[in-house]
Amino acid sequence: MSPLAVVPVPRSLQPSPSGPFPLASAVVSGDPDSAATLRALVEARTGLALESAGDAASGGPSIDLRIDASADAEGGTAESYRLTVEAASVVVTGADAAGLFYGVQTLVQLIARDGDAWSLPAVRIDDAPRFAYRGVMLDVARHFQPVGTVKAYIDRAAGLKFNALHLHLTDDQGWRLELRSRPKLTEFASGTSVGGDPGGFYTAEQYREIVAYAASRHMIVVPEIDMPGHTHAVGLAYPELAEAPVLSTHITDVVEAFGGGMPTAGEPYEGMAVGFSSLRIHDEATYDFVADVFGELAALTPGPYLHLGGDEALGTAPEDFALFVERASTIIADLGKTPVAWHEAGAAAGLHPDTIGQYWGFTTPTDGMDEKTRAFVRRGAQVILSPADAIYLDMKYAPDARLGLTWANGPTSVERAYAWEPADIVPGVGEADILGVEAPMWTETVRDLSDIDELAFPRIAAAAEAAWSPPAADSDLRTWESFRTRVGGLGPLWTRLGIGFQASSEIPWASE
Ligand code: ACM
Repeated sequence: MSPLAVVPVPRSLQPSPSGPFPLASAVVSGDPDSAATLRALVEARTGLALESAGDAASGGPSIDLRIDASADAEGGTAESYRLTVEAASVVVTGADAAGLFYGVQTLVQLIARDGDAWSLPAVRIDDAPRFAYRGVMLDVARHFQPVGTVKAYIDRAAGLKFNALHLHLTDDQGWRLELRSRPKLTEFASGTSVGGDPGGFYTAEQYREIVAYAASRHMIVVPEIDMPGHTHAVGLAYPELAEAPVLSTHITDVVEAFGGGMPTAGEPYEGMAVGFSSLRIHDEATYDFVADVFGELAALTPGPYLHLGGDEALGTAPEDFALFVERASTIIADLGKTPVAWHEAGAAAGLHPDTIGQYWGFTTPTDGMDEKTRAFVRRGAQVILSPADAIYLDMKYAPDARLGLTWANGPTSVERAYAWEPADIVPGVGEADILGVEAPMWTETVRDLSDIDELAFPRIAAAAEAAWSPPAADSDLRTWESFRTRVGGLGPLWTRLGIGFQASSEIPWASE
């Protein structure tokens, strides 16, 4: 029998000898929020409008949705759930509201079509996440994405049990969040995207709307203000804070390959080169700016993390970079938030010791990136893993792909996105040192939701399984063969949800 199409694969999944549960006559009872989520998803998947227990003629087989902190096998692990399907009843019990939400997502993945009838296979699932932090990142700086697109991506990610949306809000190409303390940022530096495409920004109200929408899907928002490099746009608004662009041969090479012109102080940058911009490190006005920006962002963001960037600061001298990330991370910690920084910041001796590191090197580390990552752990903090040649979702699938880049070791197949183990990436960074896994989507070549879908799906499912599921050593179903079959089984659900996934030939797509 092929495995049930559940992704990410649960900790324990046992088919039961009972017959399938018929969906059409089912009555939903219990927790109202998850009942609403289930009814909406079942309707999208099947067209059926399930009855609620309060409805008049509710005599059918029941789907009961409960929250019980003592429910799971280990006794109430955060975000865990238990799910039992038998011929006459379905019970989903979450240890908390998030766990129940994830149980509902699993239930929807299990829905099977049998001719004109819809059913759930008899099964018992006990499930809990491997890692506490399971993230997706969306770059809204290279190409601005409207609120509706961000919400759609939240829904897609939450359905795969991701619980963090990292928003890359600023870069050389644009500043995408309106701040009362620094209004010129959006007035002068938000109008364009890569390739001359339109820009845009979120008002504080729209940012709050995104945060609230994410919270309703049990996701936090991790906002990133990338500094001290990736700051050309800051110079459009506040030229006194920015150094002149550093025009290395790397910049010339990228301009030759991709166009976009050379970066010029005071002019919007619409190309794809990186590493030419820097804030002024030895000017106190810079730290007034950093304090204003993160102070306002801290007030707008209920989640615990503020990301200060710190990657590819090639236009900043190493000792200046160290000084900058030390001060920026301390400003964030003093606001009562936990700083997050890309792995380069690990090299700074005075970095705030609570700073979470985000590794974006390859599955086999190069150029000392592993040592910079271990430095976060030595200070007592944890690490988020985003290995670029596995789960950078903006890489091309194949050399002739329409969308994507290839710098991360060439194109990334679905199998390569799947075939890696978090605890084996950075020597000395083991299970307990890993806060979680995050799959970034950079948007140099990505204009809209259909581009996002095509690049993210199905590889985002591989990242979800790395973040949520037990390691391969502990699960018979953590194999490429099982994964590709389970992902293929999700094709009809994704189609019904309007997800424009890449119909990769690596996956045996099910049809209905
Ligand atoms: C990165 O890809 N520069 C974090």
